[in-house]
Amino acid sequence: MSLSLIILAAGRGTRMSSDLPKVLHEVAGAPLIGHAMMAGGALSPEHCVVVTGHGGEMVADRVQGISPGARIAQQKQQLGTAHAVAQAGDSLDGFSGDAIVLYGDTPFIRPDTLRRMQERRRDGADVVVLGFDAADPGRYGRLVVEGDRLTRIVEAKDASPDELAITLCNSGVVCADWKTLLALIGRVGNDNANGEYYLTDIVGLAAGDGLRCAVEICDEAETMGINSRAELARAEATYQDGARARAMAEGATLTAPETVFFAHDTRLGRDVSIEPHVVFGPGVTVSDGARLRAFSHLEGCHVGAGAVIGPYARLRPGTRIGAQARIGNFVETKNAELGDRAKINHLSYVGDARIGAEANIGAGTITCNYDGVFKHHTEVGAGAFIGTNTALVAPVDVGAGAMTAAGSVITGNVPEGALGIARAPQVNKPGLARRMRDKLLALRAKRSKQNTYGLDN
Ligand code: UD1
Ligand code: MG
Repeated sequence: MSLSLIILAAGRGTRMSSDLPKVLHEVAGAPLIGHAMMAGGALSPEHCVVVTGHGGEMVADRVQGISPGARIAQQKQQLGTAHAVAQAGDSLDGFSGDAIVLYGDTPFIRPDTLRRMQERRRDGADVVVLGFDAADPGRYGRLVVEGDRLTRIVEAKDASPDELAITLCNSGVVCADWKTLLALIGRVGNDNANGEYYLTDIVGLAAGDGLRCAVEICDEAETMGINSRAELARAEATYQDGARARAMAEGATLTAPETVFFAHDTRLGRDVSIEPHVVFGPGVTVSDGARLRAFSHLEGCHVGAGAVIGPYARLRPGTRIGAQARIGNFVETKNAELGDRAKINHLSYVGDARIGAEANIGAGTITCNYDGVFKHHTEVGAGAFIGTNTALVAPVDVGAGAMTAAGSVITGNVPEGALGIARAPQVNKPGLARRMRDKLLALRAKRSKQNTYGLDN
């Protein structure tokens, strides 16, 4: 059975008090809408349609950055959730199969939950609604169930006291045959407390037609929607708790789990150990047995097996660290490939570079990769030794097994096995240090005497 996703993301998100559309605020380094797309994407849908409204262009750009095939449907006026789904009509013209409706501001629905909804469809339910037992039902729509059938959904604002006492609530996620869904939506009116076209009304209409509507239950935590910055922070905390638990269950050691922050796509091998206060941006993979020491920040990079990173290291996008390699304190790398067992142990910037296996980059080495307009590449061969405080002015190539003298500004290639020295020769002036010091001390004595008599300052 083919599937299409419809993700509703037209709402204003007033309570975020933000110029950024609500669904573009991030949890674990991915926008809220990205989480919804990933959850639905795990079911390999044929189409994904995102319904945009407020901040539509920004949302469309980000959505297509995540999934170039995603389709955008504009909802010019936010007339309700049924009206929003109807806007996907053109994008899904000619599609036959099931549709799942998700909300762009609800990031934690699990793929397995959606699969269970699909199973309910296969078992004969015409409309499947995802429900949950709410600790505080508040303003959620209530699911009215008779026997094993869902007969109606009533919005809190329109509910009677008896209906308000129901704790089984609507998450908003719906799965149905697309054509059936579209036909039902066409019959939804807006005669209710909000004057909106409610998607929830399709259940009463379907049941009236003799169609079977069923509820699939999920954990309330999955249905958490984000409406404010406080809820965004709570969602981040919830996500991180889960990610830390998963990392440990899969064989990573976290000394102080509550201080480690993962991204949505962090991948760790076995026996990776992570010291306190390590932060992962998106796109990080870490191989078996690597050690990430305290206060390191990693983003868009790969760390090879058994490598040691930090403490206080910053690995930026495009960094690839070889097996058993070492990155020490206050080292920044960007778009840099480091061979196996290579070392950059102290106070360096290495960008747009390839460092060969077992090369040693001395303290304070800087690749001067940027001339203000263009970026240039630095190549350091296997087993090379870059002396302390070397400036490698790119484009430049230091051959395998070559050396640079400490303090050199290397502007030309250093051939394999050669020593490159590029600094002023040292000149010693005998006795000059002592003479200068005596002169300065005498000057100070004279000045302090003048101050005592108030003559000068
Ligand atoms: C909706 C449900 C309610 C459910 C709750 C769960 C309806 C009528 N009610 O209520 O039963 O318990 O979600 O959180 O469906 N949206 C649009 N265009 C619109 C209106 C909404 O794209 O015209 C989007 C919003 O951006 C949001 C989602 O649809 O992502 C839900 O809309 P919202 O206004 O939050 O609905 P609720 O009142 O919370
Ligand atoms: Mg809502």
